[in-house]
Amino acid sequence: MKTILSLFSLFLIFSCNETKTPKPIKHKKQVISYVDDSHSYAKPNQAVATHLDLNIDVDFNSKTISGIATYQIEKKKKVKSIHFDSKNLLINSVYVDGKKAPFKLIKGDAVHGENLTVALPKKAKEVRILYKTKGNNEALQWLNKQQTFDKTSPFLFTQGQAILTRTWIPIQDSPQIRITYNATVKVPKELMAVMSARNPKVKTKDGVYKFVMPQAIPPYLIALAVGNLEYKAVSNRTGVYAEKGQINQAYNEFIDVEKMVVAAEKLYGKYPWEQYDLLVLPPSFPFGGMENPRLTFVTPTVIAGDKSLTSLVAHELAHSWSGNLVTNATWDDFWLNEGFTVYFERRIMEQVYGKDYANMLAVIGRQDLDETLEMFKNEPENTKLKLDLKGKNPDDGMTDIPYEKGFLFLKTIENKVGKEKMDAFLKKYFNSHKFSNITTDKFIAYLNENLLIPNKITFNTNEWIFKPLIPKNAIKITSHKFEEVMQTIKKWEKSEITAKDICTKDWVIQQRIHFIRNIPASINLKELKKLDDACNFSNTNNSYIAMVWFEQAAKRNYHANDVDKKMAEFLIRVGRRWYVTTIYSALKENNRLKEAQEIYKKARPNYHSVTVGTVDKMLEIDKLKHP
Ligand code: BES
Ligand code: ZN
Repeated sequence: MKTILSLFSLFLIFSCNETKTPKPIKHKKQVISYVDDSHSYAKPNQAVATHLDLNIDVDFNSKTISGIATYQIEKKKKVKSIHFDSKNLLINSVYVDGKKAPFKLIKGDAVHGENLTVALPKKAKEVRILYKTKGNNEALQWLNKQQTFDKTSPFLFTQGQAILTRTWIPIQDSPQIRITYNATVKVPKELMAVMSARNPKVKTKDGVYKFVMPQAIPPYLIALAVGNLEYKAVSNRTGVYAEKGQINQAYNEFIDVEKMVVAAEKLYGKYPWEQYDLLVLPPSFPFGGMENPRLTFVTPTVIAGDKSLTSLVAHELAHSWSGNLVTNATWDDFWLNEGFTVYFERRIMEQVYGKDYANMLAVIGRQDLDETLEMFKNEPENTKLKLDLKGKNPDDGMTDIPYEKGFLFLKTIENKVGKEKMDAFLKKYFNSHKFSNITTDKFIAYLNENLLIPNKITFNTNEWIFKPLIPKNAIKITSHKFEEVMQTIKKWEKSEITAKDICTKDWVIQQRIHFIRNIPASINLKELKKLDDACNFSNTNNSYIAMVWFEQAAKRNYHANDVDKKMAEFLIRVGRRWYVTTIYSALKENNRLKEAQEIYKKARPNYHSVTVGTVDKMLEIDKLKHP
């Protein structure tokens, strides 16, 4: 009853206080025909929401978000209902054009959630949903003070991709649908709220923040973070948000961000979102980065003190074109987001840090790809670019295949047509599909018409996209910086040089990573300890080095220098899925599952739901009891 009353009063407050909707930026009006998306209950060809006004209250005590989502909708004449995705939400009431309307919340399954169906009168224009999140919410991670950098205030962030926005907003949650939004967000006075929208640079007095997102974006890119944040500008259109104690480190680490935007613009056209900022999250953030428009979310583990891991920024920035501007129509087309982004990321890195650097990234990527191919040797279906994720969690498609096979596909075409033509093609592709979506089939037709046919090129596009494994014509990328590493390893194996000689080498981080990942099996534990003593790998501050070193330690049963303790500490503090799964899986493969489970018991409460989901499966946690 209390909830109903408070929701009702919220409704009154917001309806009196309604902010005027600023005019959304008009994009060329097209008749959009939507494709089937097995991961959404929305039927956008019948009725689709085009603008959202979100009024919410963020309550750290009850760990809930409550409020109102008001949609402007467009419908076909005869259509009698509109469908939204909703997962684990309490839907209190629904109003259509101001009048209370009947609705049904039709139960679906554990992956997709529920189908919120609202009856519509003939000329319906606006749907207003009063709702509240329940506990145990998949998109949201509520962190206590201890889990933040400064340890002075709690923190909240959302993670929408792939289909989690529906767990904090009832929404038509298909990536092919685009929506503009305004939001009014009320948070505790001492905290700042930021979104994938125009953002504040300082805190307000009353904890109420008003946001405008005038460009239409897919629902998975609606994002919110709340914490004790500060802002520091890098240029007049780039900057960083972080907690006070971390803001200067973050600023120094990301000082090249404006240079990256300039490089990206030179390649594929003007940056389309006005502002590009980064938000540094607490270490439990499950990804390296998330490309929320105008405000990329990044893990603090990229702050290494020497800018060595900032290709991640180039990656998330590249999504401003591939992904955010031109969006995969369904999660089966995910490679169109990520493959293009990896290609674009490496082109940016080449511009800013040189060809050698970009080549090293590509070779590391190839090694990742080969490991993934090996992992899927009995499930070759999973190595296709175009996926079929029907009935599965789209998260299952997030492997290295869309990223690295996608990259290799584009790089192989680039090698065939030359950079100049490739760049002209990509620039035109982004421009002609801007603020729109793309299916794999539409892309193939576009590629044929605009690049392959005009240049009389035959290319095995279908083999690359629809067949498993890597086609024979894949380009081979080499790096002389890595050849040097491999030669050093050979000399070390033959005892021509010592571990100490290796550590004093003037190598960049990527060379050290390559070195660690390629330590030969013939190197014994005594020699490994010598190496650790000389390079201090077990105590490194570089998170990437730590990850690959702990992976080796786990695989080789290396226990010296307190490495097990250090590894456990790392796994408990950091929730970045790629890092933790790499280490847990190395332990598991080496018959150390029990040990991994022991560590995970302590780490699990610190992880976001997407990391928990993956690690639970990996470490067979459903077979154990968990509180
Ligand atoms: N968009 C992804 C993250 C993502 C993918 C979240 C699918 C949820 C579902 C992001 O751009 C990404 O790819 N992040 C990578 C880093 C990148 C440098 C490869 C990551 O988090 O590891
Ligand atoms: Zn990405």
